[in-house]
Amino acid sequence: MPNKLLSRAILDDSLIGINIDWSEYYTPVSMVHDYLEEVSDELTGWIKSPLERNKELLTSIDCIASEIKMNANVLIVIGVGGSFLGAKAIQDALTPYFGLNKNGISVIYVGQNMSGAYIQQLLNSLEDKEIYVNVVSKSGTTMEPAIAFRVFRNYMKKRYGQEYYNRIIVTTDAEKGLLKQIADKSYYRQFYIPSNIGGRYSVLTPVGLLPIAVAGVNIYQLLEGAYEAAILLQEERVEQNEAYRYAVIRNELFKRGYQVELLASFEPSLAKLHEWWKQLFAESEGKDKKGLFPSSVSFSTDLHSIGQFIQEGNPILFETILYFNEINEDCSIPFDEQDDDQLNYLSSKSINEVNAVSKEGVIAAHTEAGVPIIQLQFEKLDAYHLGYLVYFFMKACAMSAYLLNVNPFNQPGVEAYKKKTLEMLIKETVYG
Ligand code: PA5
Repeated sequence: MPNKLLSRAILDDSLIGINIDWSEYYTPVSMVHDYLEEVSDELTGWIKSPLERNKELLTSIDCIASEIKMNANVLIVIGVGGSFLGAKAIQDALTPYFGLNKNGISVIYVGQNMSGAYIQQLLNSLEDKEIYVNVVSKSGTTMEPAIAFRVFRNYMKKRYGQEYYNRIIVTTDAEKGLLKQIADKSYYRQFYIPSNIGGRYSVLTPVGLLPIAVAGVNIYQLLEGAYEAAILLQEERVEQNEAYRYAVIRNELFKRGYQVELLASFEPSLAKLHEWWKQLFAESEGKDKKGLFPSSVSFSTDLHSIGQFIQEGNPILFETILYFNEINEDCSIPFDEQDDDQLNYLSSKSINEVNAVSKEGVIAAHTEAGVPIIQLQFEKLDAYHLGYLVYFFMKACAMSAYLLNVNPFNQPGVEAYKKKTLEMLIKETVYG
């Protein structure tokens, strides 16, 4: 078990550049806190679910994950938004950059775009592989995954004949939706997304857990981290609850004219975690003409592009720097007799050590430029701390949205493009 004291996120607000009168937030934070903790709103199920430690569910996820690992080389996960981003984020953060994960199975995501080329190339790549499909959609009607599922059902029928249905796992609502009806009719095995947990808050349900388990990540450790967060972040007092403090700081920065929050990290495997975070905050807060614009940068890459803007451009942004003290693997910098690149002074260091110094350099330079910086530090990049992290951000996001007076759990704006697209498709197909 990780050391309890080291297991928390450490939130450092010494470089935010503003003073906050915390006492102004005592009442609003505790009102929202009570609402989140006590009122069982229809979409706050994720708050208590890590505390439930549903052994039966985990055993059946484990069982199906083992079956998939035994019988397949590829798991195709079909889903969009909250139905894929969390799983992909954890998978990318904790599985190797190159080659296959330790189970020797690829977990590939589809249904998150409408690219015919992407889908066709994926189909072409499957010829000599054994396949399972996990289709994930809470509503069961989202167009992108629905189209992808039609393509892959068809493919699976042709590939595996009558037995194909054994290789399709559906993750959807327990009662409603077209996907539920299809799953029942076709005898697909099913996992359920609790009705009181919305898409972008669902990574710790079967939505995320099945693909994450197949990818070889320890879901028990992931949930242990979330459990720890669920306990620690039950604290009502804003100054003692780091998720609430983070929520208040970003709201205060927003009030003082900062329009963009840049999530920054120093490990490229976190790129999809940035995407998960962006979706969480954008869909939860971006409504009623309000909300910080969530964006992200991956350093060092973006130091050589967006870095210029951060240092000297329009001062509309602040940074939230996500940092993990320990990364599993590292590479040493070799000593070179000739030293013609003049890098021998670094030869006692590893590349991760240089990266750590570069983080300090970045913080110093950006602070000098007047960019407010929130630092969020975790002990180690592993399943446990990522479990903690996702819960931390979900709790912070719900608090932050309510402080802004918007509903964190709906996304009415997403419907607009769907409606227009449907109208246009019907017009084109029916009227030519
Ligand atoms: O957070 C959300 O609710 C959304 O991003 C959904 O996850 C996304 O739209 C996919 O919806 P569904 O799972 O119903 O296909």
